[in-house]
Amino acid sequence: MADGRGLGARNIVLVGFMGTGKSSTGRILAERLGREFVDMDAVIESREGRTISRIFAESGEPYFRSLERSLTRELAARENLVIAPGGGIVLNPDNVADFSATGYVICLRASPEQIYARIRTETHRPLLHGEDPLGKIRDLLAKRAALYAAIPLQLDTDGLTPAATADRVLARLNAA
Ligand code: S3P
Repeated sequence: MADGRGLGARNIVLVGFMGTGKSSTGRILAERLGREFVDMDAVIESREGRTISRIFAESGEPYFRSLERSLTRELAARENLVIAPGGGIVLNPDNVADFSATGYVICLRASPEQIYARIRTETHRPLLHGEDPLGKIRDLLAKRAALYAAIPLQLDTDGLTPAATADRVLARLNAA
């Protein structure tokens, strides 16, 4: 198994659509590397004192995106972190640029069916609420496809456990 000795202090940032395993993989990776793990949605919820669903419902998506934007700037200025942003971080290219300037950015991918299988028992994602979540996943993935594809490092997670994904992330970063 690859270790992280060659990676220096640059942050490791796991981007990707909802349900691609960013948080579960990030937590394992941080543990292996002895780094701090930052789940951006969890930080936003704790600073706001309300859930992501309530932030969307009460203050709107643009307000949530502005919170993501300022937290990105804050985290990109730090080092030695493993960071899991929310899936919509790529909607503002400045976020990807800031993270890429000070860290390794890798995009986790999964098929719509795999994403649906992972998230269907969860209720905390406002963009997938309501009828036909699989259709919503397909729509949003198609709308964002070019934004995710623009990230040079890509990793397919279909059929992989978070631990196996963490192994492959390390191998890819060591090879890059
Ligand atoms: C979002 C993804 C969510 C969360 C919010 C919006 C998105 O994070 O930030 O519900 O726009 O893709 P996860 O990718 O961790 O589910």
